[in-house]
Amino acid sequence: MSRSLLVTGGAGFLGSHFVAHIVAHTDDRVTVLDTLSNDSAATALADFPPSRVSLVVGNVQDERTVDDLVVAADVVVHFAAQTHNDTSLVDSRPFVDANVMGTYVVLEAVRRRGRRLHYISTDEVYGDVPLDSARVVTEDAAFRPSSPYAATKAAGDLMVQAWSRSFGVAVTTTNSCNAYGAFQSVEKFIPRQITNILTGVRPQLYGNGRHVRDWLHADDHAAAVLAVLDGGRIGERYIVSAGEERDNRTVVRRILELMGRSPDDVDYVRDRPGHDMRYAVDSTKIRTEVGWRPTRTLLDEGLVETIDWYRTHESWWSGQKERVEAAYARDGA
Ligand code: DAU
Repeated sequence: MSRSLLVTGGAGFLGSHFVAHIVAHTDDRVTVLDTLSNDSAATALADFPPSRVSLVVGNVQDERTVDDLVVAADVVVHFAAQTHNDTSLVDSRPFVDANVMGTYVVLEAVRRRGRRLHYISTDEVYGDVPLDSARVVTEDAAFRPSSPYAATKAAGDLMVQAWSRSFGVAVTTTNSCNAYGAFQSVEKFIPRQITNILTGVRPQLYGNGRHVRDWLHADDHAAAVLAVLDGGRIGERYIVSAGEERDNRTVVRRILELMGRSPDDVDYVRDRPGHDMRYAVDSTKIRTEVGWRPTRTLLDEGLVETIDWYRTHESWWSGQKERVEAAYARDGA
């Protein structure tokens, strides 16, 4: 039976991939609530049939708007968030507003209206593990967020748990590793390096470039969220990861190689304060319980496809590139 989904932040990077996935793989109808302040904005939604996807421009902190939309939905999928660590280190307030207050408003609406909520979270709530550690984080590990961004996502996560226990709200949560793909803001690592190369600037590695991330394609992330909506157990959290741990240096060298440049064409720059060394999470639960699996590998088709998208969508990123690089230059990264 087809559902009516309210997707907050559905015009953003991960949100728009999720909406595309829903349109392609289900009969569900989607209402997107988005401020359109994000760079992907409406472009990412432009091609969807209006019979399947409608857009409401508004803020997730606006109780009235959220309440009206929640009443009309069967399920709420809450993507809307401020997501960039570097930005959160310069000004944390928008992160508290969007990620804590925004989540509060959504939780109160689903509580009042008796709707199911799926909360999109991050593996960063668990903090980092040392490079040489055998420790791999599972769902019930303690939260140890490092950045203001991660702390506000963890706050949202904890509120979701509390609203589930105290008020019986039907919730599920996914905590995902790093994602990449089309429509990702050029402030983030992979698109920043690709667009640097396309504009004749050398890629920038923070610190010694040995920091490790696990990279998941945004379409695979979307499939994971749908799998949990369909087969996840209410009240449960699911870690989502690709099992593609790579250090930043390896990723940049591969991007350079694929773009026909010397793999050594890199600048090592000032490190991010509090920079998490490595995320290492275990996604056995989602793989065994709901049968989800990632389909793309980073260093092969994933990067080739992503580089190609940025090459052919310069008009999408050129405006934001100037703004983003001006902010990095001003704030010292
Ligand atoms: O783990 C999930 C998280 O992944 C998400 O919750 C966040 O929203 C998402 O931004 C991402 O966080 P990271 O801080 O890991 O992503 P970012 O793309 O900013 O950086 C990835 C790695 O690359 C990190 O070790 C910092 C490094 N880096 C980043 C930039 C922008 C560089 O070396 N040079 C750069 O220019």
